[in-house]
Amino acid sequence: MKFGATSLTAAALALAGEALAAASKPNIVVIMTDDQDARLGSTDVQKHVQKLMAEGMTLQNHFVTTAQCCPSRTSYLRGQAAHNTNLTHVRAPGGGWEKFTAMGQDKDYLPHWLKKAGYQTEYLGKIMNGYNMATYAPKPLGWDHTDILLNPYTYEANNVVTSINGERPVFYRGFHQTDVFRAKALARIEHLTSLDKPFYIQIAPTAPHTQSDGPVVPLERHMYSLLDAKAPRNPNFNPDDAVQANKVSWVGRLHRLNESEVGFVDWQHRSRLQALLGVDEMLEDVLALLEDKGVLDNTYVIYTSDNGFHSGTHRQIGGKGLPYIEDTTVPMVIRGPGIKAGAVSKIPSTHIDMAPTYLEIAGVRPEDYPPFFDGRSLLSEWHGKKSSDCGRNGTGAVSKEILNVEFWGSIDNAGKPDFPRGQPQNSYKTIRIVGEKQAWLFSRWCEGNATELYNTLDDPYELTNLALNPTAEHTRLMHRLNGLLLVTKSCEREVCRRPWPTLQQEAGPGASFRNLDEAMAARYDGFFAALPQVGFQECMFYQYAPNEVPFYPPAAQLGLGTQWRGSSDNYPTHDTNGTKVPGNPGRMGTAAQRHATLADVLKSARNVTNAEIGSVVECVAPNYCPGGGD
Ligand SMILES: *[C@@H]1O[C@H](CO)[C@@H](O)[C@H](O)[C@H]1NC(C)=O
Ligand SMILES: *[C@@H]1O[C@H](CO)[C@@H](O)[C@H](O)[C@H]1NC(C)=O
Ligand SMILES: *[C@@H]1O[C@H](CO)[C@@H](O)[C@H](O)[C@H]1NC(C)=O
Ligand SMILES: *[C@@H]1O[C@H](CO)[C@@H](O)[C@H](O)[C@H]1NC(C)=O
Ligand SMILES: *[C@@H]1O[C@H](CO)[C@@H](O)[C@H](O)[C@H]1NC(C)=O
Ligand SMILES: *[C@@H]1O[C@H](CO)[C@@H](O)[C@H](O)[C@H]1NC(C)=O
Repeated sequence: MKFGATSLTAAALALAGEALAAASKPNIVVIMTDDQDARLGSTDVQKHVQKLMAEGMTLQNHFVTTAQCCPSRTSYLRGQAAHNTNLTHVRAPGGGWEKFTAMGQDKDYLPHWLKKAGYQTEYLGKIMNGYNMATYAPKPLGWDHTDILLNPYTYEANNVVTSINGERPVFYRGFHQTDVFRAKALARIEHLTSLDKPFYIQIAPTAPHTQSDGPVVPLERHMYSLLDAKAPRNPNFNPDDAVQANKVSWVGRLHRLNESEVGFVDWQHRSRLQALLGVDEMLEDVLALLEDKGVLDNTYVIYTSDNGFHSGTHRQIGGKGLPYIEDTTVPMVIRGPGIKAGAVSKIPSTHIDMAPTYLEIAGVRPEDYPPFFDGRSLLSEWHGKKSSDCGRNGTGAVSKEILNVEFWGSIDNAGKPDFPRGQPQNSYKTIRIVGEKQAWLFSRWCEGNATELYNTLDDPYELTNLALNPTAEHTRLMHRLNGLLLVTKSCEREVCRRPWPTLQQEAGPGASFRNLDEAMAARYDGFFAALPQVGFQECMFYQYAPNEVPFYPPAAQLGLGTQWRGSSDNYPTHDTNGTKVPGNPGRMGTAAQRHATLADVLKSARNVTNAEIGSVVECVAPNYCPGGGD
């Protein structure tokens, strides 16, 4: 009897201890915008992002590994490069929500891992292209609560239609999308902070993305702000012919923007900034509520975007998807436990590092991480510690200077209908070295087998393509960078984190190089010069391994993440032909709506009708299926 009672007490105590430990795990709140640049000044106009920077840390060299939304969001949620998720585009056959689920990746991604660690997991806003009026049910797996935008309404700021937990979609009449999600986010955080559980909530408005049928639509109350704003006139803004001649593929063929096109670039830039003021208010309210609830200091608040954006740079009118700095870097600001106020870090990192970082925050033991992470946890760097750990299983934090950025298929020029628009082929593979002593961008494009090399330390605006007339030294360097690209274009796991050993093994006995400087030794000239060049056989719409030979080592062709996902061959996609909900007349997001609550928003909300849902239409895609924007 006595024995039994004691062990009961012990068990009860142990349980209470676990609950306490779980309750004190930090919360994670992520605001992820859509297409926000880090290099063209967009965060300068956001007072509350600035405040977050002052109270937290800014990562100045945070990259995405593929610069378009659906592939980048997938890499973020899986901790893997796009060549391993095989989510390589926004539409079938390259990617989209149904490709993600067809491969079973929705059974093994961030929300499941966080739930296992005791977290309540919630997702609001845009998730991936192809989550639409036909595919909203069942709700995305892993999340305790989802409230997600549905195509074709995802990019319609004044026409908000979402599905809560896979239920019949609701139309939120009379409100701007950013206000709807501000109100929803606050209501969820009210609820989350009442639970005795740590939480992860991702809030993903589509601002400042262009609308499906035209330019960005800010909230009405911000349409008269920042009227003098212009796209920055950096040295790579709309360059003259001599400079543009350095570019390859379709970018090299762009005409210089004329006065009316430059006017459009400025106008679009201004609309984007105005749209971001709405997100800034969302951040303001979220921070205030977390503080009010007394949980702010035990919460990691992360402000970022899914990919960057270009405005007038290299003669492009607007958009993303290029390998250049404006498209591939995103804002990354973190406030939370152990993070020094006002810290600025130049250590490079990427979105594939975020999932391992969250697991470390959640106290998951490295041996319990999923086996397939290509990224590494950044937590010790965020805490200002230098780590010498080699980052096995994505733990520890070996500072990484080598970044692989990749792209497959078409690209759009956002916003302006009369500008040369869809570029059918934009496939490339690149390697970046981001170091304090040297920094390079090396790219191999599909079209024309073209090569670029920029010294991004001396030439931060990526103007002078050193591959056009290379010196002997640049040729030696390109042989090394090609070697790194050969390894990283198909790397998995530890090889992505540390690609040099793979090359070293093949370089023969006695070879020893741990970094670019050591690899530049003359005795390796023969080895690197003899490696095959990275290239594509044909310019295709998606990743098809035989099209991308050679692989290095050759067995890498059989990897590409296939061990941890199912096949995606000939998966169908679905959409509907429903009638559109009648859009709002006039402009939503008035000053009177600044503090609209969820109850206010719900007053004029209604379920969509059967006619609006329509009948399901299927597409089995040898080429692109329609997919509702990018
Ligand atoms: C890495 O993960 C594997 C399989 O998940 C596990 O067996 C191993 O112990 C882990 N290694 C470290 C260093 O945590
Ligand atoms: C500028 O270029 C556009 C094509 O994008 C053309 O329609 C327009 O007429 C041009 N304007 C001027 C002033 O040349
Ligand atoms: C690139 O060059 C290789 C080798 O010459 C060739 O096999 C391949 O077809 C070329 N690719 C394209 C897209 O032109
Ligand atoms: C990637 O997806 C495409 C389209 O579904 C498929 O044909 C291809 O075989 C896949 N590649 C890999 C490496 O899984
Ligand atoms: C949608 O329909 C359901 C089921 O009839 C109902 O419970 C819900 O309140 C409706 N939602 C709105 C916003 O009208
Ligand atoms: C949608 O498709 C169904 C079945 O093909 C058809 O009966 C219906 O008329 C279509 N609706 C619209 C709005 O086109």
